[in-house]
Amino acid sequence: MFILSDQPSIANQFLAELRDMLTQQDRMRFRKNLERLGELLAYEVSKTLSYQTKEVQSPLQSVQMELPVDQVVLVAVLRAALPFYQGFLNSFDQAESGFIGAFRQEDGGEIGVNLGYHASPRLDNKVLILIDPMLATGTSCVTALNTLLEHGTPKAIHIVAAFAAPEGVEYLSHHLNLSYSLWLGTLDEKLNSKSYIVPGLGDAGDLAFGEKL
Ligand code: URA
Repeated sequence: MFILSDQPSIANQFLAELRDMLTQQDRMRFRKNLERLGELLAYEVSKTLSYQTKEVQSPLQSVQMELPVDQVVLVAVLRAALPFYQGFLNSFDQAESGFIGAFRQEDGGEIGVNLGYHASPRLDNKVLILIDPMLATGTSCVTALNTLLEHGTPKAIHIVAAFAAPEGVEYLSHHLNLSYSLWLGTLDEKLNSKSYIVPGLGDAGDLAFGEKL
């Protein structure tokens, strides 16, 4: 598991602004900070791709460079993932994209996940990056991944989140019977009784886009 905030960096500034009750009210800044975290995590994930030596001709000379060859598929869990996903798209220019609409459903006190919408390209032999900014219980991530795997078998699976709770990380480890890598902006303390990450930041979707009905 990779955690960006384990090493002090400018990422901590972005994470702090996302959490801060005053700064997070600026929707444009909130979305921008998620996007910037997405770019930083995309850079980290990019180190795990396959590379091939290719010749590049500059105006002055040709040069051999190691360039990525994997076909990357980015899948965003709607709606909160959109700004975070944009950060990945800024780095993986030619990636294919998929979208999954997961919403929390309270059923007799139990919080379940309903996948309202999903669209994905074929995944066989591609590098799948599942993008959900808030890894809380882990249920939406597992449900999303199980649905996605009906579209083929990726060569690698990366799950990325800006904020995570230990309960979510643990849930993935018990419910995903496959090999995956987990990339986090930061790992928080716990979940509260309403399955919000603590200290977390509140509701990422509402902060990015406004409250929904
Ligand atoms: N989704 C959010 O937006 N926030 C949380 O704390 C957990 C899930």
